Amino acid sequence: MNTVKAIYPGTFDPLTNGHLDLIARGASIVDQLVVAILRNSEKGIPLFSVPERLEMIQEAVAIYPNVTVTTFDGLLVDFARQVGAKAVLRGIRAISDYEYEFQMAMMNRKLDPDLETLFMMPAEKYTYVSSRLIKGVFRLGGDVSALVPPLVIERLKAKAG
Ligand code: PNS
Repeated sequence: MNTVKAIYPGTFDPLTNGHLDLIARGASIVDQLVVAILRNSEKGIPLFSVPERLEMIQEAVAIYPNVTVTTFDGLLVDFARQVGAKAVLRGIRAISDYEYEFQMAMMNRKLDPDLETLFMMPAEKYTYVSSRLIKGVFRLGGDVSALVPPLVIERLKAKAG
């Protein structure tokens, strides 16, 4: 049987409803979706540790039987080959995402011509949501409860003490 396994890679610091929306869309079109958290991110010091992010995402995607969560290091193309994934799933929220995503997709294609990048758009109501904004707004006391899963809110509150 020809089944399609795709990877949804990212930093997920933290998981947002935009990510979850994309996971739901991806899981409905591929046979197996692997959410993969990058361990060696160049984005600076994360708010949540990799094990914390793994736990949160696992809890949030438990309702999808064809979604698994893991971590990876190094090149995405190497990880894709290792798990037998044919595609990478990425979300595009706005035109501003396009250039970065296009460069990554083309670089990944150069590194592995057999790996396809699939782009999907999240629901309109999440087009402005990013992990960076969530952390910034929460830190300043803003209400982000409509934009992240309740379990993330709990963890954000616990971090704030
Ligand atoms: O959530 P992010 O930060 O937008 O995700 C970026 C990610 C993890 C998809 C990207 O940084 C990545 O794939 N890193 C692994 C290293 C790699 O393969 N680099 C070459 C592709 S440009």
